Amino acid sequence: MGGQIGVEIIGTAMHLPEGKLTNQKLEELMTTSDEWIVKRTGINTRRQADIANGETASVLATEAMRKALVKANIDAKELDLLLVATMTCDSPTPSVACVVARELGCNDIGAMDINAACSGFLYTISIADAMIKSGSYKTIGVIGADTITRHIDYSDYGRGAAILFGDGAGAVVLQANEDPSKGMIAHKMHADGNGAKHLFIPSCQLDFPPEAEFDERKLDKVQMNGQAVFKFAVTKFQEVIAETLEDAGISADEVDHFVCHQANSRILDSARDRFGIPEEKLLVNIHKYGNTVAGSIPIVLDELIEDGKIKPGQKVMFLAFGAGLTWGSSLWQF
Ligand code: UT7
Repeated sequence: MGGQIGVEIIGTAMHLPEGKLTNQKLEELMTTSDEWIVKRTGINTRRQADIANGETASVLATEAMRKALVKANIDAKELDLLLVATMTCDSPTPSVACVVARELGCNDIGAMDINAACSGFLYTISIADAMIKSGSYKTIGVIGADTITRHIDYSDYGRGAAILFGDGAGAVVLQANEDPSKGMIAHKMHADGNGAKHLFIPSCQLDFPPEAEFDERKLDKVQMNGQAVFKFAVTKFQEVIAETLEDAGISADEVDHFVCHQANSRILDSARDRFGIPEEKLLVNIHKYGNTVAGSIPIVLDELIEDGKIKPGQKVMFLAFGAGLTWGSSLWQF
């Protein structure tokens, strides 16, 4: 089938923790206001995993994939590779992917995690598409799952990040298809480690960049220069849309859906304004879930598919940016 293989998304699902972290709850924990958060970010509430009781990234990932397999109408034993995008692995090893494969009863298939922060799911589906088109794999499970709230300081010191992030997971099942036009038609993966200092989680004093002052209270917690990340995101989102459209030889109005990482509604608005993208082509669900890191894109995708908005034959552009710094796109023909 080499060169003649298409890739189809045959199932999607999401799994969110029950625990809610509303703006009102944040008002109790730190100096902030519902009005400020809504105006600056578009977020009303987020979900928070119960880590103390074992609700880790692998639990969210397993449940998301379990549901996606049901929707795809296939058994876990039909998966021949499992890839998980995450930056909040339960522990350094085993990987989330190995735990998910065990919990779902997969065969002894390859299973690994990929860390590109909020761009993780986008990187991972692009890799999965290439693995299927190589002819080596037929059915790949791809998950984006993070429990970032375990790394948030819910006090005034951490309020810049605390208002943004939530926990969640989304999963997709990809399968080889005999129609070679289906699957990824263009993509870009970018990274610039020089920007790592703007968004990082230090484990020890050595992890602090030279310009940041060491403070023990910051260990294991998200450190973010919100304004720097905001500027980077607005610029790179626009650049990567333009370069992907150029590579594919199409215009923005030929894309049916822009499935974007949900980080701040103002960043999404800037992309819509720049390319004249109508609201119905760029779903914003950040008000419900906040920024769920690698979970964000597959959660949006599942919502669109569940609502019957994405139809066969349509073009869908996935877009993300995040820590690293990383950013990229993946344009798909459904
Ligand atoms: O996946 C990537 C993840 N990260 C991002 O996408 C982050 C992108 N950046 C952002 O979304 C925005 O920068 C934030 C939402 C984090 C912050 O919004 P901003 O408009 O850039 O605010 P700012 O940092 O410029 O702060 C403006 C004011 C400051 O007060 P003064 O100095 O003007 O008096 C802050 O101290 O707002 C204050 N402030 C807050 N007030 C209430 C900062 N955080 C808060 C807060 N509640 N949580």
